[in-house]
Amino acid sequence: MSKIIAANWKMNLSLNEAEKLASEVVKGNSGSNDIILFPPYVYLWTVKEIIKGSRISLGAQNCHFENSGAFTGNVSASMLKGIGCGYVIVGHSECRQHHNESDELINKKAKSAITNGLIPLICIGEKLEEREQGKHKEIVSEQIRITLADIDVSKIILAYEPVWAIGTGKTATSAEISEMHEFISSLVKKVPLLYGGSVNEKNYHEILDIPNVDGLLIGGASLQIEKFSKIISY
Ligand code: PGA
Repeated sequence: MSKIIAANWKMNLSLNEAEKLASEVVKGNSGSNDIILFPPYVYLWTVKEIIKGSRISLGAQNCHFENSGAFTGNVSASMLKGIGCGYVIVGHSECRQHHNESDELINKKAKSAITNGLIPLICIGEKLEEREQGKHKEIVSEQIRITLADIDVSKIILAYEPVWAIGTGKTATSAEISEMHEFISSLVKKVPLLYGGSVNEKNYHEILDIPNVDGLLIGGASLQIEKFSKIISY
């Protein structure tokens, strides 16, 4: 079965570097997986032109829940749809942490994305102290309860990203991933469920082979074409 490989470029790359990376991804994509690139907003249009006609899709890293209005610095789901995005990440732990995004707000953003014809990639995952206290399942089920309230789950992608594994080089073990993916899949049925957190060119294979792992959300390793092209050819 094909897997979803999502590349979250975060706030990285110059315009030239973004163009080069997008072109290299197009060239290096010989596999049958579904690749989605999430460049910074300012590169969306450029990347869209580069991936045109390929099997690669485009997404944005966040959106506002309103379609328009006095929200300086924000971008709406309807604007993203209008310029050719098919996806938008909502609820990434960096937005939860740095912008105080709550589960209620993430739910509104996901609804706006769906209303505007985008597929929201909704991120959930526990923090280190929550895992150490054995509360990871409780936290994640609460995030699911609120972020997915009144949402048609056939229109979303979910990503389990333990916060302690993001950008730290500390991947969750296969047993930890397996346990959480089985748990989440029992709560939310028939939803593509990605794993994210320090996925690289060395561990991707083992993670993709875990039951209930339908794909990967990759940060750091998606910025280096040698690493990323290995992963997408899974
Ligand atoms: P990472 O980021 O692969 O650099 O850990 C993953 C993410 O934040 O989605």
